[in-house]
Amino acid sequence: MPENTAPNDSSPMRRDRAAAWELLTQWTSGESLRKHALGVETCVVAYAAQEADRRQLPEAERAALLDLYACTALLHDFDYERHPSLEEHPYVGVRELERLGWPEEMRRAILGHASYTGVARDSHLARTLFACDELSGFLTACALVKPSRAIADVELASVRKKLKDKAFARGVSREDVLQGAAELGVELDAHIAFCLQAMQQRAGVLGL
Ligand SMILES: [Fe+2]
Repeated sequence: MPENTAPNDSSPMRRDRAAAWELLTQWTSGESLRKHALGVETCVVAYAAQEADRRQLPEAERAALLDLYACTALLHDFDYERHPSLEEHPYVGVRELERLGWPEEMRRAILGHASYTGVARDSHLARTLFACDELSGFLTACALVKPSRAIADVELASVRKKLKDKAFARGVSREDVLQGAAELGVELDAHIAFCLQAMQQRAGVLGL
């Protein structure tokens, strides 16, 4: 391990989901940004499982892949609360991840999720992160306008309708949602249905 990536003490650094969650919550006190991280994680990990099946990975490799995807999703905006400007996010966070020894593939995917960095989304992880980032936020917004505020009550047709309603969840870039699905090679309806189902299955964790 290069000197500059070594932690302050001599104990080996954990780089697993628990460590990612710890880092996220150290840097992010806001409930909604933490929930955003969990929402993106939910969708990204569902795609990781699909990818692991497609590649017929043995158990240990499958677990490692799911963990990488989970950590990347949890940490993709971890610097945003402290450094929200285009000049700093996600560069500051990625520098910190490098210092802590988190893998290159993760850091590159995190840079790539912000199109203005110009870093190509050249891995399945990067394309998955980008495709799920805005959409999971949009699905959360769709749930929160339901009387029940429950993701279980959100239906594909109403999501499609709300995507066309420019006044609804203005902060979500429709262009990014469409581009994300296209880059991942999934049809938009299938992508929405897939992410919706993943979030519905984890509604308790997401508080939805
Ligand atoms: Fe995000």
